[in-house]
Amino acid sequence: MSESRIHCAALGGKIMSADEAAALIPSGANVGMSGFTGSGYPKAIPAALARRIEVENARGNRFRIGVWTGASTAPELDGALAKVDGIEMRLPYQSDPVCRERINAGEMEYIDIHLSHVAQFVWFGFLGKLDVAVVEVAGVLPDGRLIPSSSVGNNKTWLDQADKVILEVNAWQSPKLEGMHDIYYGTELPPYRKPIPLVATADRIGEPYLRCDPDKVIAVVETNSPDRNSAFAAPDESSRRIAGHILEFLQHEVRKGRLPPNLLPLQSGVGNIANAVMAGLNEGPFENLSAYTEVLQDGMLDMIRSGKLAHASATAFSLSNEALAELNANLDFYRERIVLRPQEISNHPEVIRRLGVIAMNGMIEADIYGNVNSTHIMGSKIMNGIGGSGDFARNAYLSIFMTPSQAKDGALSCIVPMVSHVDHTEHDVQVLVTEQGLADLRGLSPRQRAKVVIDNCAHPDFRPALRDYFARALEQAPGRHTPHLLGEVFDWHLRALRGERM
Ligand code: COA
Repeated sequence: MSESRIHCAALGGKIMSADEAAALIPSGANVGMSGFTGSGYPKAIPAALARRIEVENARGNRFRIGVWTGASTAPELDGALAKVDGIEMRLPYQSDPVCRERINAGEMEYIDIHLSHVAQFVWFGFLGKLDVAVVEVAGVLPDGRLIPSSSVGNNKTWLDQADKVILEVNAWQSPKLEGMHDIYYGTELPPYRKPIPLVATADRIGEPYLRCDPDKVIAVVETNSPDRNSAFAAPDESSRRIAGHILEFLQHEVRKGRLPPNLLPLQSGVGNIANAVMAGLNEGPFENLSAYTEVLQDGMLDMIRSGKLAHASATAFSLSNEALAELNANLDFYRERIVLRPQEISNHPEVIRRLGVIAMNGMIEADIYGNVNSTHIMGSKIMNGIGGSGDFARNAYLSIFMTPSQAKDGALSCIVPMVSHVDHTEHDVQVLVTEQGLADLRGLSPRQRAKVVIDNCAHPDFRPALRDYFARALEQAPGRHTPHLLGEVFDWHLRALRGERM
């Protein structure tokens, strides 16, 4: 055991193979797995479970489990289990193509909930019993406490709430992750809740280790496998222009005295546009920035290295191969500047509101009145899920949503008369940005908003049709407050569904 990361004798005695561990998970179990945007997910047991499910399927035995995670995971988890049709119910966020296909085919149930809600819903008993936790860790201390891995997500809740625990101890994860995490154990249930004592992004309010009752641990599996890494595209022209509009806007807000010179803590969503905004900020005029966000992507790591970003709080990494190598080579430097927290804290409404976070998230489409669809294609097909976008947007100091103005080579307008699905209502959206420009919706009535959204954000090719719709709605709708022509409001999507240009 000297080479091992498992320094607890009680747990060292439970080491077994992934196949043996997977055999301990019964069909029908709700399984809480670690993992958040491709980091810190179990690497061996999901694959072993998928092999077992395939065998059971071949014997005519239906074997399915509920899979609860932090957020999206990786093809080795979501993909492998979805491929063998082994997932009965999935929550709370996924981005796997095979999962997506099964969900949209009606073959897999999916519950899309705010990421900050998951832990408390489990504590409240809203989601039923959690039977098994399968959690990747970077090591085990002599007293059985666990060194968290490259994401924290819902692991604290899974370890607390599951009847049985299976640990994957991944020797690939850097031992220098130890000390980067801050696991807060003070969240009580109503009516006994107390304020969360976090008043600055760098505050540490908990402890660096996960607690786990050794008696609940039924298996320990040793692995040595890398996190799946997501490559980021170099910012394209459209992303650079979106980033440019946001930077200009933030500078304007500083000049107006509505933001301090080093802004307020930044939250940046997932994907290439978010990464481009960070690249823009890295070259921009702001210094001594901070981040209170959910995932830490390449752009933020670059900003920490350059010194622009003094500190970042998140729940997980989502890095390219190159950025991951940089992180692991310089963990002593980054550990001083990064805290990883449970997602109930990284996404906590109370904390986001208190810190005054600037939230920047991607979207699929927005409507002329400022409602935002982050999750559905043409009203019915799920893309990924709401993730943390609602946690941040609803409680942010400034809530910004961004997208290119068109999709599918110009066939679709991302600004439409009415969104085909609503995730963020007009009440939670303050700024919309496309490569065309930025619409500042603060202080505007619905009619005023429609004008700036069309003029500033819509692609010029779609502006005339949007203006025509709005003008006719103003004349013909039964009310002038938020005028809509209900008989034709989804004609844009219906045209797209027929394969025509919107
Ligand atoms: N209508 C229909 N389809 C559209 C569309 C529109 N208006 N806009 C984009 N799409 C399609 C794209 O063509 C693409 O389809 P494809 O995969 O078949 O090529 C797909 O939607 C994704 O678009 P893309 O431009 O690649 O999006 P992205 O990587 O910038 O992600 C979201 C955008 C909204 C999907 C992503 O930000 C997301 O999942 N958000 C929700 C969760 C979130 O905000 N998390 C962060 C909180 S911390």
